Amino acid sequence: MGFYESVARPLLFRLDPETAHGAAMSIIASGLAGAREFQSPLLEQELFGKRFPNPLGLAAGFDKNAVAVPQWRRLGFGFIEVGTVTPRPQPGNPRPRLFRLPADKALINRMGFNSDGAEAVASRLRAARAGIPVGVNLGKTKATPLEQAPEDYRESFRLLRSLGDYFVVNVSSPNTPGLRQLQEKGPLLEILAAIREIDATPPLFVKIAPDLEWDALDEVLEVAREARLTGLIATNTTLGRDGLSADPGEAGGLSGAPLRAKSNSVLRHIAECAPELILVGVGGIMSSDDLYEKIALGAHLAQIYTGWIYGGPGSAAALLVGLAARMAREGAQSLQEIRGSALAASVRGT
Ligand SMILES: Cc1cc2nc3c(=O)[nH]c(=O)nc-3n(C[C@H](O)[C@H](O)[C@H](O)COP(=O)(O)O)c2cc1C
Repeated sequence: MGFYESVARPLLFRLDPETAHGAAMSIIASGLAGAREFQSPLLEQELFGKRFPNPLGLAAGFDKNAVAVPQWRRLGFGFIEVGTVTPRPQPGNPRPRLFRLPADKALINRMGFNSDGAEAVASRLRAARAGIPVGVNLGKTKATPLEQAPEDYRESFRLLRSLGDYFVVNVSSPNTPGLRQLQEKGPLLEILAAIREIDATPPLFVKIAPDLEWDALDEVLEVAREARLTGLIATNTTLGRDGLSADPGEAGGLSGAPLRAKSNSVLRHIAECAPELILVGVGGIMSSDDLYEKIALGAHLAQIYTGWIYGGPGSAAALLVGLAARMAREGAQSLQEIRGSALAASVRGT
């Protein structure tokens, strides 16, 4: 057992989860969290004109306010996604709003987009050098009526447009009332058009929920085509409670190991139906085999949140070491060679 599992994690897990997160973020932002980077030519790739040293990113919601941007590369990540950022600052839901489910290697959260707001995040990003691609995840302020949601996304994008390598329209958090209705074709197209009015060029993704019915998912794919999205991020947390040994009865989105199967079935469907999209697979990565599986199911990139809380600061590098070792064992020379290998033969290699 390493230092994190034997000493740091037990100490952090004695604190309430949000206090522990705050403490961990202070340590990380101050540069004190040491971990090794892992580099391998097997893991490098260029996507939408950006160079990714490896395919594992830090998922949105961890560094919501861009307070530790220069540190994530040192912790092994190949890219990060800051946010969700709302146009104006807002406190999010009342505490407690984050719950650990250690027996199931899971979390439940109902943070509700606590955000310092787009101006504060913009000034931090302006001052920081990440050394890896930075995505900026955009959301709606709670007080904004759904019909005015496009204004919110446009306003945040206006303030942040020169500061991200890609942008994400987050319409899949379960913790902002009504937000997930914005995954419907009409509202989603309006949001994307509002962003594109400001600047049509930056790489644009939509982050989707794992709880969409298949028809609704196909509608998102139509939007992706019509709006010429760069890609999709699949998935956010689930409102489902499948796979838990005990349901703690807390409202919010479930993440971690119990989300993996659901998230992967969404990823597989998208990869099979829309091979032209860049796919970011997120949900339930706890091991290097889970990371490999995302890529085999068609993901170009992957992200982790809950698995990193349980695995600690060395876990990104450990997952990448495992991924590269498995690729070497299988004789794969690049991520492209394994991408989609678990999909139906007819879509493979497209
Ligand atoms: C505490 C917490 C806060 C999150 N906040 C956000 C957020 O602000 N925006 C977002 O798009 N996703 C957010 N997520 C979802 C994660 O980015 C990710 O999609 C989800 O947790 C599944 O990945 P995982 O199983 O590796 O945790 C959050 C997740 C957690 C656990």
